[in-house]
Amino acid sequence: MQAERPWADLRINSERLNNRIHQLARIGALEGGGVCRLALSDEDRKARDLVCHWMKQLGLTVSIDRIGNVTGLRKGKTDSPPVMTGSHIDTVATGGPYDGNLGVLAGLEVIETLNEAGIETIHPLAVGYFTNEEGARFAPDMMGSGVHQGALDLDQMLAVRGIDGKTVGQELERIGYAGEQPVGQFYARRYIELHIEQGPVLEQRDIQIGAVTGVQGISWTEYSIRGISNHAGTTPMELRHDAGYVAAQIVVEARRLARDMGQGQVATVGQVEMIPNLVNVIAREARLTVDLRNMDEQRLQLAEKRLGRFIDEIATAEQVEISQRSLARFQPVHFDPAMIELVDSTAARLGLSCLKMPSGAGHDAQMFAPNCPTSMIFVPSQGGISHNIHEFTATHQIAAGANVLLQTLLHCATQEPD
Ligand code: GLV
Ligand code: MN
Ligand code: MN
Repeated sequence: MQAERPWADLRINSERLNNRIHQLARIGALEGGGVCRLALSDEDRKARDLVCHWMKQLGLTVSIDRIGNVTGLRKGKTDSPPVMTGSHIDTVATGGPYDGNLGVLAGLEVIETLNEAGIETIHPLAVGYFTNEEGARFAPDMMGSGVHQGALDLDQMLAVRGIDGKTVGQELERIGYAGEQPVGQFYARRYIELHIEQGPVLEQRDIQIGAVTGVQGISWTEYSIRGISNHAGTTPMELRHDAGYVAAQIVVEARRLARDMGQGQVATVGQVEMIPNLVNVIAREARLTVDLRNMDEQRLQLAEKRLGRFIDEIATAEQVEISQRSLARFQPVHFDPAMIELVDSTAARLGLSCLKMPSGAGHDAQMFAPNCPTSMIFVPSQGGISHNIHEFTATHQIAAGANVLLQTLLHCATQEPD
């Protein structure tokens, strides 16, 4: 057994990984902790530069593709497609140091560990960071990995306008990450991503590792409501066409439908804007977003239909116009059973407890899943908190996940060609 895996006792350097996590978290650091590094912002550029610098220091061949994804390649004994890991380094505006960043930096730590040990793998290894995984500035989320794997159209994505009116293409040019590498043709031999769980399950069950079975489907829709502005004191209630009231009704319905449907259905209204947003003026316009997710595509479609019916009814009742725009729509993804088993058995071999579990959050890995055997490794999130400046995972928990990543990558990269 040991002879088959001469690297079985190899472990990552936890302090070195931790140092990189904290160095990267200083770019876009928020007061009171946390990070704001929206995709393609100046902070994102600085973080990209630093990670590129680390990739080059580690001897990786760095390439940048047309949507700004960055890949660092470590040669293998063969020229076969690489075994790939990675994630993202953009954050939501109220992000933490680990979401995405952990997967990229743990990938670099694996490379440095192999370099130090003088290990040459059969297949090349690649570490990537993908543009705009969060979707917080530009929708949809998982944009870079989606284009990379051919699920999203490059030109359409370059034309996407963000919350500040700038397009992805303009901002890529501005920060110097509009690369030349073609997209949509990159074939990875395997893809495996380390990520914090961003939910409470592992911590509550006192389990060290999650072997991720899949990712739930995501449906993001923006609703724009057009009513009539009028005086808050003089307009009788039955004569109002109140965009603010309709927005509020949609917020309540989103919660109600998720509670009624159960079976893992979740619904979130994360953004609401009112115009003119004044104390004594009935809102003439409102804009809001609804995020619906479910592991079951049929259930997700049911949630979409139910919300759609409600929107029609409330528009008629209040006599307002409601238009809608899909911001993101991804079907649920099921990861490769053999890769899930590999994560599970690797964790067991390292003496770590492991739970097979689906992901509630979207991830770059889901874009690879249709094209190559894919899975993910989760480590616990303290208090189940993420997309929050208090996001935290302890150093020993990170080390456990990074060692599972090291050993799974080594397993995949030292197998003879299929
Ligand atoms: C991405 O982080 C998402 O799940 O919204
Ligand atoms: Mn993430
Ligand atoms: Mn995130």
